[in-house]
Amino acid sequence: MASLGINLDHIATVRQARRTVEPDPVQLAILAELGGADGITVHLREDRRHIQDRDVELLRHTLGSRLNLEMAATKEMVATALRVRPHQVTLVPERREEVTTEGGLDVVRQLPVLRQAVEPLQGEGIPVSLFVDAEVDQLIACQASGARWVELHTGAYANTASPAAELARLQAGTRLARALGLRVNAGHGLTYQNVEPVAAIPAMEELNIGHTIVARALAVGLTNAVHQMKALIRNPRQNLLVTEG
Ligand code: PXP
Repeated sequence: MASLGINLDHIATVRQARRTVEPDPVQLAILAELGGADGITVHLREDRRHIQDRDVELLRHTLGSRLNLEMAATKEMVATALRVRPHQVTLVPERREEVTTEGGLDVVRQLPVLRQAVEPLQGEGIPVSLFVDAEVDQLIACQASGARWVELHTGAYANTASPAAELARLQAGTRLARALGLRVNAGHGLTYQNVEPVAAIPAMEELNIGHTIVARALAVGLTNAVHQMKALIRNPRQNLLVTEG
């Protein structure tokens, strides 16, 4: 069964809309854990548009679960991660003008830069995951980077009206990654409607989900929203796409 990482960036987005102290992602992380979160994910962006350095520091000390720090592969961020010591680092591409992370890393082209981030982090015992599209050449490059994990980008699956082909790509990507000795997470754009077939992929270890859970939390509270997502992941209907297709 895949575990569930809750991305709290958009709690911080609401706070930063007023540059105030509420809502506090550090406080709400506790409610996410009560709802069954196996881990908390935050993206400390270069422009600090949502999560702040203080959030990351406090989460590291207060979480009962695991902290997964999403970040760009820059010297500044590597230094931050070495200081904070999250349970995992996920390296993501970052462009200032994007609304959210738009694509996977181009590991093939950026291999030297990524290695410079992976080596010091894993050398200090912090496992690194690379956020990539489920493409053969990218996954082979992930193995070459030395990273132990990949997070498969589920955005294309989430955004298409006929997801069967994209689901097959995620399934094949997971198989290839495992054959290459990589451990596999997935995320981006997953919702209560589309999560089950991804949760049912054998060897999928963790799904990182944010926006849809924060949105549902406005109606039912964060603990309930996490609990509802956890139930779908724990007991996914494997043939959902086929039976409804
Ligand atoms: N995984 C990664 C690497 C991401 O960048 C994001 C979005 O910040 C997520 C997962 C969560 O995506 P969503 O908010 O669409 O669930």
